[in-house]
Amino acid sequence: AAGGLVALAFAGCGVVTPGPVSTIGRIDFDRPLAIPPIAESSVDADGTRVFALTAQAGTTEFEPGVPSESWGFNGGYLGPTLVADRGERVRVEVRNTLDEPTTVHWHGMHLPAAMDGGPHQMVAPGATWAPEWLVAQQAATLWYHPHPHGETETHVSRGLAGLVLLHDDAERALGLPAEYGVDDVPVIVQDTGFSAEGRREAAQRGYAGALGDELLVNGTRSPYFEAGDELLRLRLLNASTARSYAFAWADDRPVRLIGTDGGLLDAPVELPELRLSPGERAEVLVRLTPGERLVLQSRMTPELAGLVGPVAQTNGAADGFDVLELRAAEQLRAATADPDALIPLPPLEDGELAADRRFVLDDSFEINGHAMDLGRIDETVTVDTLERWTVVNDTALPHSFHVHDVQFRLAAVAGEPPPPELAGWKDTIFVEPETEYVLLLRFADYADPDTPYMYHCHLLWHEDQGMMGQFAVVEPGQRATIPEGTDHDH
Ligand code: C2O
Ligand code: CU
Repeated sequence: AAGGLVALAFAGCGVVTPGPVSTIGRIDFDRPLAIPPIAESSVDADGTRVFALTAQAGTTEFEPGVPSESWGFNGGYLGPTLVADRGERVRVEVRNTLDEPTTVHWHGMHLPAAMDGGPHQMVAPGATWAPEWLVAQQAATLWYHPHPHGETETHVSRGLAGLVLLHDDAERALGLPAEYGVDDVPVIVQDTGFSAEGRREAAQRGYAGALGDELLVNGTRSPYFEAGDELLRLRLLNASTARSYAFAWADDRPVRLIGTDGGLLDAPVELPELRLSPGERAEVLVRLTPGERLVLQSRMTPELAGLVGPVAQTNGAADGFDVLELRAAEQLRAATADPDALIPLPPLEDGELAADRRFVLDDSFEINGHAMDLGRIDETVTVDTLERWTVVNDTALPHSFHVHDVQFRLAAVAGEPPPPELAGWKDTIFVEPETEYVLLLRFADYADPDTPYMYHCHLLWHEDQGMMGQFAVVEPGQRATIPEGTDHDH
């Protein structure tokens, strides 16, 4: 696809060149962090929990008195947080009041392909789409966002995104902070551009996509959060279209990671910094002392700077960011010790492989030499079998890789066992230059030969350029078919 030249222009400068530790773009932390509301829901006669999301255009004052155009669900920017329990049936009535078609994809959710909200489930202007499914997975931090082919970057960056929190009994039994917006705090991180007056504007595009030189957290510019609790659980979502972060505490205390995309780890992991590429989530615990102010930053470590160097260069002066200041009250509600053991991780499956596939990401923004074609099924998977997917980044620059419908495990990164922070359930991985990742996946339930799911780079401009493919999950021996009504490219 397009972009090959851009990639070539950057090739060769992506190799690791340890540089100075990052310069941080400083902010004043002068606005309270917005907390997306919990989505209202009702339970209908058959027990289904029903939510309503309306995609709408509007304005948002990121800077008081300076309205910026923005899109949101049920509001001007971002959307409410959907909360559901394992074992519940849910339905979401998605209404599109925009003047163009969009979709809503449930990123990280295990559900039938027809409910997935990918590019085959377009919602026309004025229409309502009401997908319904059973929540059949463990407690986790998931999210939702549009997925219209070729327009995903635009729709997400305008503001269409929100969190989904899934709970279950095993998670509740751990006694982790669970009061939403109080000690269980959503942290949705996005980068953007601003004019001098404070009007939000499109960011400059680099090889990775559009990279803003400022951050919004839950849509708040320059945010602080007032904590009344000693122990906080932060749910980090990288909802940026292109930028990766390396989150760290300004006082250098380790980042205490307890959960990844698909749920909690088996034990907390302490990291000097936590790297999140677009689409990835992480749950983190932090313990505060009375009156303390603690700043969450994103740092461009020498290692990361080497990996994303060309990206950093498009970002003007700073290559790191102040993200959020935590302000602890003088009196804090005490918390018990954090659990040492969380949710047991089953050992990696070592049964017979039904398929061993390879996905090579190349400089033309293609996978295995093909750009995305809605009329082509790239892979056919037999339901409930074990598959091994080897993802190869054959470029000198970073990408990411996301698979719909499943939470997978990493069996190897560059020929080694995955580090502890990548050993849990994942649906999106950062894919380092010239590196190979081995994934083990099992696509349980929901065979449907007529509707594919997607796998793709979650740098949304790359995805829009065609760095995406389609797989169908079928019963043994079934053949996948092209979805009806799909325009064929050839
Ligand atoms: Cu978060 Cu296919 O997307
Ligand atoms: Cu990419």
